[in-house]
Amino acid sequence: MENKKYYITTPIYYPSANFHIGHCYTTVIADAITRFKKLEGYDTFFLTGSDEHGLKIEKKAHEAGVSPKEYVDEIILNAKDLWKSLDIEYDRFIRTTDSDHVETVQKIFKKLYDGGDIYKGEYVGLYCTPCESFWTESQLVDGKCPDCGREVSEVKEEAYFFKLSKYQARLEKYIEEHPDFIQPVSRKNEMLNNFIKPGLSDLCVSRTSFTWGIPVTFDSKHIVYVWIDALSNYISALGYLSEDDSKFKKYWPADLHIVGKEIVRFHTIIWPIMLMALDLPLPRQVFGHGWLVINGGKISKSLGNYKDPREYIKEFGVDAVRYYLLREVPFGNDGQFTEELMLARYNGDLANTLGNLVNRTLSMLTKYNDGIIEKGSLTTEYDSDLINLVTNTKEKVESFMEKLEVPEALDSIFEIFRRCNKYIDETTPWILAKNEDFETLKTVLYNLLESIRIGAILLSPYLPSTSKEILRQLNTKELDYERTNTFGLLEENIHINDFKPIFMRIDANESK
Ligand code: MSP
Repeated sequence: MENKKYYITTPIYYPSANFHIGHCYTTVIADAITRFKKLEGYDTFFLTGSDEHGLKIEKKAHEAGVSPKEYVDEIILNAKDLWKSLDIEYDRFIRTTDSDHVETVQKIFKKLYDGGDIYKGEYVGLYCTPCESFWTESQLVDGKCPDCGREVSEVKEEAYFFKLSKYQARLEKYIEEHPDFIQPVSRKNEMLNNFIKPGLSDLCVSRTSFTWGIPVTFDSKHIVYVWIDALSNYISALGYLSEDDSKFKKYWPADLHIVGKEIVRFHTIIWPIMLMALDLPLPRQVFGHGWLVINGGKISKSLGNYKDPREYIKEFGVDAVRYYLLREVPFGNDGQFTEELMLARYNGDLANTLGNLVNRTLSMLTKYNDGIIEKGSLTTEYDSDLINLVTNTKEKVESFMEKLEVPEALDSIFEIFRRCNKYIDETTPWILAKNEDFETLKTVLYNLLESIRIGAILLSPYLPSTSKEILRQLNTKELDYERTNTFGLLEENIHINDFKPIFMRIDANESK
């Protein structure tokens, strides 16, 4: 097979003890896309991690009476545990305090300085500490930070600047000529019209007012601005400018940076300009997704609508949480999260449509054919419609995934399960059994099991443990993704006797 590579990243998260379900969104989607690309035969690299420097962390550590490193070391375990509980399979969890990252950032800063793209000056500006962002007067909303609505303060310091202005025309041209670079297109227009075209000012990229950051090697009272530090993770993680840069050579440029909409700006202005100044190719795509919201508003601890995602996992199971995140939010737009919606998705799609189908089919096989899978010699008038739908699904899923339309991809797999349920109503196996039409009955059961097998393989990137469990219950060795457009590969004469319901209905009252 041709050596196809796929490099995908999530943002690196601020260390937090209070991750909420919204935080899980980017990472679960990136995980599903990576698993899907793997099925398609790509050599994938999936990067996530934590963004550990900055004044906010320095302050929190001080309040807790520990050093910033001690503070982040402790808290970082929470992120790793959360990703594990969500079945996230990353290739590297990078921490911006990792020594290889620190060294690379220092080299990048020096390289940009030596190349004349970073110069020394004096900064006077309005700074939002919680967001670690500088704003111009005109960007403020009611005199406050446009992102979080909090107070900004005037800061004056000697600082290094990065020549964004020099690259403005080149960036604008690049974005115009590469329509896929910023997606969805609404975000591309927003970046061009609201930020780039009005003019880019040079960016202040060093700080002297606090110390928790990466020191500038040639002027050690300065530390590197957190966003320069953080964005560099996408290449430092691969060994850029290090002794072993084989991963960098293999995987860069990234195929996809998935980021929340509020940080598209950093990823489509500062980051590409850094790469241009370093003479590196730009990522193929930055995708800005919407937020998961509760009653139209942000999820946050202070608003009291926050719950640890592990509580939902305990209640509904990991795949139910993954399913919700992947299915409910139209990619690119905001999506609602409520426990009622979660329960409705669980009972409707997972327990009724899928769980019940699998259990009912295996029970009928046990009852009507001693648990043995066999192809019958007679057919029904409904077979070809079912078979066509099932064998066309692989292609449909691939075309949705190509456009990152994950909910649509997932729904087209569920179309198989819905069609199977309809096929049961159409063919009425219990009547076939009563009429002793066993050759038709075997066909019907075989077609159902084969459709379930294909559906389960297609499901594996999204609901990995459910997929595995269904395939285990089917006792099949035919697991090849490439052949999921071929019907009839499920082995005959397999004996099935080890099965149990995969998603049990949850009563609304029980879930409280
Ligand atoms: N540290 C920066 C990223 C640096 S990348 C070089 C950061 N961290 S974050 O922890 O605040 O956010 C991480 C990701 O979580 C972002 O993509 C953000 O959009 C996402 N989300 C946070 N709350 C969210 C929702 N309620 N819904 C969906 N995504 C959300 O930004």
